[in-house]
Amino acid sequence: MTSNINLPRIMRIGAEASRMLPATLKELGLSRPLLVSDAFIVSLGWLETLEQQLDKEGIFHRRFTGVVPDPTTDAIYAGLAVLRENDHDCVVALGGGSTIDSAKAIAAMARRDQPIRHYKVPQTLDDGLPIIAIPTTAGTGSETTRVAVITDTETQEKMLCMGLGLMPVAALVDFELTMTMPLRLTADTGIDSLCHALEAYVSRKANPFTDTIALASMSAIAKHLPTACKEPDNREAREAMMLAATQGGIAFSNASVTLIHGMSRPIGALFHVPHGMSNAMLLPDISAWSISGAPARYATCARAMQLAQASDSDELANQKLVAGLRQLCADLQVPTPASFGISKAQWHDAIPTMAQQALDSGSPNNNPLIPDAAQIASLYQTVWGS
Ligand SMILES: [Fe+2]
Repeated sequence: MTSNINLPRIMRIGAEASRMLPATLKELGLSRPLLVSDAFIVSLGWLETLEQQLDKEGIFHRRFTGVVPDPTTDAIYAGLAVLRENDHDCVVALGGGSTIDSAKAIAAMARRDQPIRHYKVPQTLDDGLPIIAIPTTAGTGSETTRVAVITDTETQEKMLCMGLGLMPVAALVDFELTMTMPLRLTADTGIDSLCHALEAYVSRKANPFTDTIALASMSAIAKHLPTACKEPDNREAREAMMLAATQGGIAFSNASVTLIHGMSRPIGALFHVPHGMSNAMLLPDISAWSISGAPARYATCARAMQLAQASDSDELANQKLVAGLRQLCADLQVPTPASFGISKAQWHDAIPTMAQQALDSGSPNNNPLIPDAAQIASLYQTVWGS
């Protein structure tokens, strides 16, 4: 079997990588970037710093800072309007997953006329303006993926968009930008990365290239995420988490996510639960249900995360895996849907819609155990706790 691997052309990883935008643009022959960011990054002064670096090199640039969390089609159209005013030749994202996904959609839609929903999966976005991603969280891994998730303003559906037109041409991965991430964001984005690695490893589309990267990622996250949460200034933990997040992105972009992400997107869309947090709500129960489809693979995950001993049987390792994932979520104070503020009636009323959206995304088909709509509905009930 041939594995199909897609990666950015340039990756700069390490302290101060984010300062290499002018050099990266020159290397790629690009000269008119649109900078995409959000109000929070602007308030930190980081966008201005980037602009000063470009000014020093005499590089023309404009900014679009209207990115919203869980980016909407309306926000993308606003960014597209700025892009088209100034004849930009590339799009630079400075921010978290929402910002990078927004930049990707703006770049891929630059020369397209149909509404964005026309291009959601199973359609593909195969070309667009070059994208340079500078992530500020560790992280969605979006800097290395050919995926963007955009919420349709009219229907509230979280649409999955895929294609090489969404793959950044360069990623500047600088862990120093994550040193100020608050606890909740560190925990949520870290568990998102863990889900990327774990789902990529158990995916039906896993391959030898993604396997090694996924295992390295989950091993590092298990070791360093609690420290990054407890000691935000710990450079070793922040650096390890940033690399693990990028590796998680590479793994899932080339092996696909599975049932956790499939069921997570509708929770985010309907109840505005942050992406990593809704993954975390699902992680222990969905893993427990899926283990029988690939017990040896899940046991390898347990050992990579140091939750089980090399000498443990697969069955014991998998018991320890589920217990360890529950403990991790407890340690990182992941809320339940109820403690997040969702009522039981709201949750149960939404289950048929969430189950259908989860199935429509295609991600459940990559799961070791493939569920039907009724089983997904039942799993949403399990996650509620009833
Ligand atoms: Fe994710």
